[in-house]
Amino acid sequence: MITRKKLGFELSEDEIMEFVNGAAHGSVPDYQLSAMLMAIWFKGMTDLETTRLTMAMARSGDIMDLSSIPGIKVDKHSTGGVGDTTTLILAPLVAACGVPVAKISGRGLGHTGGTLDKLESIHGMSVSLTREDFFRQINRIGLAVVGQTSTLAPADKTLYALRDVTSTVDSLPLIASSIMSKKLASGADAIVLDVKTGSGAMMRTLDSAIELARIMVQIGEMAGKPVVALVTNMDQPLGTHVGNALEVKDALDVLSGRSGGDLLEVSLALGSQMLVLADRAKTEKEGRKILTEMLTSGRGLDKFREMISAQGGDPAVCDDPCRLPQAPVRREVRCTGEGYVKIMNTSALGLAAQAMGAGRILKTDVLDYSVGFVMHARIGMHMQKGDLLCTLHARSEGDAATAERAIRNAVVFSEEPVRVPPLCYAVVTRDGIRRTD
Ligand code: URA
Repeated sequence: MITRKKLGFELSEDEIMEFVNGAAHGSVPDYQLSAMLMAIWFKGMTDLETTRLTMAMARSGDIMDLSSIPGIKVDKHSTGGVGDTTTLILAPLVAACGVPVAKISGRGLGHTGGTLDKLESIHGMSVSLTREDFFRQINRIGLAVVGQTSTLAPADKTLYALRDVTSTVDSLPLIASSIMSKKLASGADAIVLDVKTGSGAMMRTLDSAIELARIMVQIGEMAGKPVVALVTNMDQPLGTHVGNALEVKDALDVLSGRSGGDLLEVSLALGSQMLVLADRAKTEKEGRKILTEMLTSGRGLDKFREMISAQGGDPAVCDDPCRLPQAPVRREVRCTGEGYVKIMNTSALGLAAQAMGAGRILKTDVLDYSVGFVMHARIGMHMQKGDLLCTLHARSEGDAATAERAIRNAVVFSEEPVRVPPLCYAVVTRDGIRRTD
């Protein structure tokens, strides 16, 4: 099988099943799984192979049955970014509209943050509910955000861990099958995808991001689930805050109307697609209007507070974000010259936060929820000498100094005005690709 893929042949359904079952049950050694992953990385897969791989991975464990929860259940997934806290905003907003949100989220990966880690920065918050508690909570308050159980797509768990250490993460069929297998296994009726592109995304180029979106939409359709993918910008952190507790604060600022910007904009774009798929809105425009009402009336924030309480967390953070973990060192980083912000190397910014303790370098690393930074600059802004570039929240002066160097290196200025990049490049559905930039 490895030889056939190495030579570029299309693998049959039986061959793919054998590979996936070998990964799920440990019956194929890691070195052969790794060789196959590398062969796939080099030779790629046809759409048919990618779909077969996805279905086999989804079926390698339990498929959740959400039919006991009334209504159309719509899931949302991001391919990963920096300062990308849309779940914490749109999940309560969508749930406040009466659409049940049963969300299975992930942890941080490399330079990208993870929703579960962010939620766990809230004192007492649990993201591992029993199946009964998960269903009970959704039926009671319409919202739960939890982690993946070991029985959901176990083949992905094995393959993902191997990809992480064999330089085979950035493969289109492997990313598409990894994401879609988990989404299909988690039982939602429809799926909204946020496919990131840019310097902080797995897909650095727009073409590769659109292609990933196209394949994932097609896989969903073949599995009988409507999927809509937005291709959005990750050339700078989406929100202003990067780090676990800091990103919860960013989400609370948006939900309570204290801030907006790109983070709110992308949350509304994704959330309105969810409302359309759930038949709660006829158009994206109507969806956006309903979500905005939930925001301004405070019902979204109330829903978030309800979820935190239901999952054992401290709901008072919603009214007083200072109750979130606070770092002992704060350092202001100021511009040393003037100019327009031209480039933010976003993966370098994510790695700077990771090195401060906001992300794991080893799987076993314990996170420091309090650390990270608040970025005051955005691409296109004109900054004067002495203007605040970012505020660091660090464990020590030494960590702050290291992060300051990394962040200064990641931000490039230009003397010429810089065009603000589009936030959303394309909407990909079964009907095709609609460019929006
Ligand atoms: N997220 C996943 O779950 N899998 C990938 O391969 C990439 C992002």
